[in-house]
Amino acid sequence: MADASNPEAMPKGWSRRDVIKGVIAGGAVSSAGYLFRASTVGAQTSAPGSVERLITLNVNGQQRRVDVMKQETLATTLRYKLGLTGTKLGCDRSECGACTVLIDDVPHYSCSILTHTARGKKIQTIEGLAAADGALHPVQQGVIEEQGFQCAFCMSGFVMATVGYLKVNPNPTRAELAHGISGNLCRCQDYDKILTAMMRGAELARKA
Ligand code: FES
Ligand code: FES
Repeated sequence: MADASNPEAMPKGWSRRDVIKGVIAGGAVSSAGYLFRASTVGAQTSAPGSVERLITLNVNGQQRRVDVMKQETLATTLRYKLGLTGTKLGCDRSECGACTVLIDDVPHYSCSILTHTARGKKIQTIEGLAAADGALHPVQQGVIEEQGFQCAFCMSGFVMATVGYLKVNPNPTRAELAHGISGNLCRCQDYDKILTAMMRGAELARKA
């Protein structure tokens, strides 16, 4: 490609404008190449060391196609690519638990998981907890009955952490549940009421 900044390097008869137009056309060709690769996922082999960007994730029982950069976190993908804003971003560095989702039924901080590592796994967010008929999950119902939160920014993280914990210990003592969800923080410091709501949710889950 000719160097537009060096008039002597340009082909004879070419103006600076011609060279710049050529550069722009070259960029357009590159973009088309990317789109072509994206539309034929599975049909081509990726170059060594590259990461396929258009991937399929299993989110809340649905297969979701999404364009994901290799350094992108799951929280970013869920919130800004898939519109699942029930997953909150608080600290964005594995401290608060506001971004908690279940991956293969285990609670994880989605701000600290690379989306590409969740391929082939079952991802569940707060939007996927209610039944198809709209009936709330027992833990969500526990929140309704006990009014356990103030601003509720931390709520979806607490609910997902509790749902995950109850899968391994469905009948916890209050102390056990407090320990089980201790990776979640509430900046309103409403812990006692939150725990009461989560315990109510556990009780409703055992009756369900
Ligand atoms: S936002 Fe992920 S742990 Fe705080
Ligand atoms: S209720 Fe406000 S952050 Fe927990």
